[in-house]
Amino acid sequence: MTFFLPVVVLWLLSGASAKVVTTFENQCDEFFVNKKTPIIIPTPAFQNICQMLNGVVYYATLYDTSNKIPLYSAYKFEVLIKCERPNAWYIEPQLDDNNAGADMALQCTKDGGKQALNDDYVNSHYDKGHLAPVYQASSNQCAKATFTLTNAAPQNKSFNRGQWRVTEKNIANYLNNNCKPYTKYIVTGVVPGKKKIGKNVTVPSHFWTEYCCLDNNNKCQFSQGYIGVNKNDPVQQMNVSALEKLLANLYNFTSFQLFASSTKPTRKRKIRF
Ligand SMILES: *[C@@H]1O[C@H](CO)[C@@H](O)[C@H](O)[C@H]1NC(C)=O
Ligand SMILES: *[C@@H]1O[C@H](CO)[C@@H](O)[C@H](O)[C@H]1NC(C)=O
Ligand SMILES: *[C@@H]1O[C@H](CO)[C@@H](O)[C@H](O)[C@H]1NC(C)=O
Ligand SMILES: *[C@@H]1O[C@H](CO)[C@@H](O)[C@H](O)[C@H]1NC(C)=O
Repeated sequence: MTFFLPVVVLWLLSGASAKVVTTFENQCDEFFVNKKTPIIIPTPAFQNICQMLNGVVYYATLYDTSNKIPLYSAYKFEVLIKCERPNAWYIEPQLDDNNAGADMALQCTKDGGKQALNDDYVNSHYDKGHLAPVYQASSNQCAKATFTLTNAAPQNKSFNRGQWRVTEKNIANYLNNNCKPYTKYIVTGVVPGKKKIGKNVTVPSHFWTEYCCLDNNNKCQFSQGYIGVNKNDPVQQMNVSALEKLLANLYNFTSFQLFASSTKPTRKRKIRF
């Protein structure tokens, strides 16, 4: 009994810190390759969210409260299914109220404070563009959990419904058919641009995504990166080290590494969908 006590206390402590967490480590790092979250110079504006719905965490989001958009969402792909699309969008109550519950919740205030609200998108001519998308969700609950404004950023309508949608679908189909024996990780993010909508919600300049099919030796057997300007031009494909270098430049970070250190540099391949 005495042996188990500290474990129980630790579990209670970590359980209590719930959705907005000081670090993803030991909270929801299972969505990152080898549990390694990207090292980014910490700024108070960045908040780590373990995206929880009805007590279950479905993915992880790094949210930028100064731009009121996420930087990225990290998740795992399981299997291709057709999910229902709910009508309502959630928000993250703990971003604006430390005492709020751990689950994402429907908006019940007009004042967003640190996050974007539905009103910010009204008449903006931009879609609420998913980062972790419905098409890559593996259950209806998971799809529902992607409908939170902390997982969305203003996206050009024709891009969201055009080239980006095609990219999301192609990746899901590819992973479903070609990565069966591996654990399939995806990170999708945006680069903040100069334009704003609503109450200072930044419109991204770019949307990007990358996947890694991780083998039992903790190496990415297959991986690929994609980036598109926030308009309906064709999305660029490149290897993850090239994408991460490009992203470090766009973000003005000294480095940005998600999968690059885990990729196998052995074979030269070109994946065509
Ligand atoms: C947007 O931010 C600027 C600068 O921080 C501020 O002056 C302005 O009032 C904000 N606008 C809205 C609509 O909140
Ligand atoms: C959205 O993208 C389309 C096609 O690339 C472009 O014509 C349009 O100007 C863009 N809209 C906005 C609001 O940027
Ligand atoms: C990076 O720096 C450039 C030049 O100072 C600036 O225009 C750009 O907005 C910055 N990008 C981000 C994401 O802050
Ligand atoms: C990734 O692509 C870049 C640019 O095409 C190339 O120079 C580099 O060798 C590639 N890296 C790997 C690990 O394949």
